[in-house]
Amino acid sequence: MAQWRFERVVSEKLQGQVWRVQSEGRVGYFKFARDDQWRYSGPYIANEWITAALARRLGLPVADLEVADVVGPDGVAWHGVVSVVTPAEEVISWAKAPQAVRQRPEDHLYDVARLSQLVVFDAWTANVDRATGTNLILYRHQGEQRYHWYLIDHALCLLGAPYKWEKHRWRDPFWSRLWLYYHTPQGLLRLQSSWSALSPMIRRIERLQPGDIDAAIASAPQGSLPSRMRQETRALLLHRQRILRTLLRRWLTFRGVKEFRPRRHD
Ligand SMILES: Nc1ncnc2c1ncn2[C@@H]1O[C@H](COP(=O)(O)OP(=O)(O)O)[C@@H](O)[C@H]1O
Ligand SMILES: [Mg+2]
Repeated sequence: MAQWRFERVVSEKLQGQVWRVQSEGRVGYFKFARDDQWRYSGPYIANEWITAALARRLGLPVADLEVADVVGPDGVAWHGVVSVVTPAEEVISWAKAPQAVRQRPEDHLYDVARLSQLVVFDAWTANVDRATGTNLILYRHQGEQRYHWYLIDHALCLLGAPYKWEKHRWRDPFWSRLWLYYHTPQGLLRLQSSWSALSPMIRRIERLQPGDIDAAIASAPQGSLPSRMRQETRALLLHRQRILRTLLRRWLTFRGVKEFRPRRHD
């Protein structure tokens, strides 16, 4: 296990804390939660891990993850997960990208076809946390015009945390109406609004076998997912695999708001 060292506190929220950390020239973001944050954090390490494994299986780029124990400024060590930053000259979130990138992503990014399928993956994994664009990272090396991209922060995907299901259990019809809990990051709706853009990823997900899902679940770090939640994560993924096509057809025909709009003072 690499030794990650505390650099600074990034955020402290109901669902947990994030610290910026370093290890031998590498930079990462370390996420951990106290036991009393369970209602909002749930099995966040397993959610991150399993969702990233599924993304990789489907050819979507995601940040490397490492479990770690990191000692904070007060000398207390916490157990959590590090999301490793891809080294590059420029690393920014979609939310902070120049307006031109959001207006014409096809002119500024590599692999836009894949990015145009993101809603399909997020719908399958019940991601409630993509809208603001902070969980989509862009980077480019010196001399590059276009940005590469990768996905981060899948802590609230899949079973997420208990509070995710307090109003509507995951089999409830609420969760088949994607627009009620998911907005595309600003500027990504247009690319994702045709059946031809989405259908390759729908077919990829439909072709996954239960064994592929089991392998992703089995890859989660030891102790990160109680066995009853293993079964439930599996059931959720199989259920949403079955409804995925219908869910996205309804989403495509829905005429209301489907894209995130930052408020002006943000
Ligand atoms: N692999 C990464 N590359 C670049 N930035 C990252 C990476 N992982 C995390 N971050 C940064 O840290 C922030 C917090 O991490 P995140 O996993 O999104 O936790 P939170 O649950 O607080 O949203 C992100 O919004 C992003 O700015
Ligand atoms: Mg985030």
